[in-house]
Amino acid sequence: MDDWKTQTKAVHVGERDFEAAGATVPPIYQAASYAAGTEQPFSAEDLGEKPPFTYSRWNNPTVVMLEEKLAAMDGGEAAVCFASGMAAITGMFFQMLQPGDHLVCTNVCYPGVLEFLHDFGPRIGVDVTRVDASHPEEVAAAIRPETRLVFIETPANPILRLADITAIAEIAHQGGALLAVDNTFGSPIATRPLSLGADLTVYSLTKYHGGHGDALGGVVIGQAAVVESIRRAISIHLGPSMAPMNAWLISRGLATLPLRMEAHQRAAMTAASFLENDSRVKQVTYPGLPSHPQHELARRQMDNFSGMITFRVDDPREMARQFDDRFQIIHYAVSLGHHKTLCYYVDTADMNRTTFHLEGEHLDRYKAFAGDGVFRLSVGIEDGEDLIRDLDQALG
Ligand SMILES: Cc1ncc(COP(=O)(O)O)c(C=O)c1O
Repeated sequence: MDDWKTQTKAVHVGERDFEAAGATVPPIYQAASYAAGTEQPFSAEDLGEKPPFTYSRWNNPTVVMLEEKLAAMDGGEAAVCFASGMAAITGMFFQMLQPGDHLVCTNVCYPGVLEFLHDFGPRIGVDVTRVDASHPEEVAAAIRPETRLVFIETPANPILRLADITAIAEIAHQGGALLAVDNTFGSPIATRPLSLGADLTVYSLTKYHGGHGDALGGVVIGQAAVVESIRRAISIHLGPSMAPMNAWLISRGLATLPLRMEAHQRAAMTAASFLENDSRVKQVTYPGLPSHPQHELARRQMDNFSGMITFRVDDPREMARQFDDRFQIIHYAVSLGHHKTLCYYVDTADMNRTTFHLEGEHLDRYKAFAGDGVFRLSVGIEDGEDLIRDLDQALG
């Protein structure tokens, strides 16, 4: 399996044990408990390294199949799945950080993460320093003796700013901390953070992995000892385990992830080039365009530029209403990474008030990407020319 190419891993890893009835497709083990024999412990504290299936909050065959695929795709030793991306990320924080520890966290990422840290950091006694992760020297300056973890997201939601994983991994390790990367916007087809020096990769599987907008999920991938400690403390004891049906849906999506990412990138490049050359559009940000301020880093760190674009127009609130009214193919909706193209307006003042709380130079740097607000376009796998026609008529 180790020498299989990515596309083969996406289709086959983890499926070897499911041949009992001769089915060529893995079953959904929709079971809460298993006849594990009389020798099994009643407490999860006594579980060995490879415990038999006992109870589905601990482990479930369909979820394990997905975990094996995900670990193989990212080049990690192990993976633990959760009911959502937020459950994976917050579970990782709960397990990796103790009262008195310090976290260095990017100041721009999926809003739920920063909102969680704002509320829960003080409650769990963890001090959080927010930095602009596109400036590695800010990460270095923030590290303290009690820093346990550095958390970044690249490309960052919602403005598509990048962070240099290799540089930040080195800084974190020099300071005795681990690096965790939210790679949701890129997927493992674009970037494999573990191979660039990161210790943990987290994903919302709801996005590109699942790819069809029909199942929530999340995962933490990394060294087996760390991942299994997260499973024990968080998945088993807090209980945000993934449901088997979702694991099956996301596994099915994963089989076509490499193919879909090619289609996302192709259509996104077509749409981004159209928007960049249209006088109704003020600014376009796409890592695949030479105009992206970090295009060189994108070329170094991303094998696929993904399907996420942002763009700005005059009077965006009116344009949002117009888009909602006029789009024929594109859905005016949140989320991303689906086969269908989605578009949503993200207002800078609103986001800063509720979530980012940026000031001074940090706010200026955010606005260099987003101005007063951006439309976030998650380009699906439709034909790029059809998307251009829909954008063209909707822009009016
Ligand atoms: C980059 C990123 N990380 C994490 C999440 C949270 O994932 P979920 O919605 O599956 O909980 C999201 C959701 O949009 C996201 O965009």
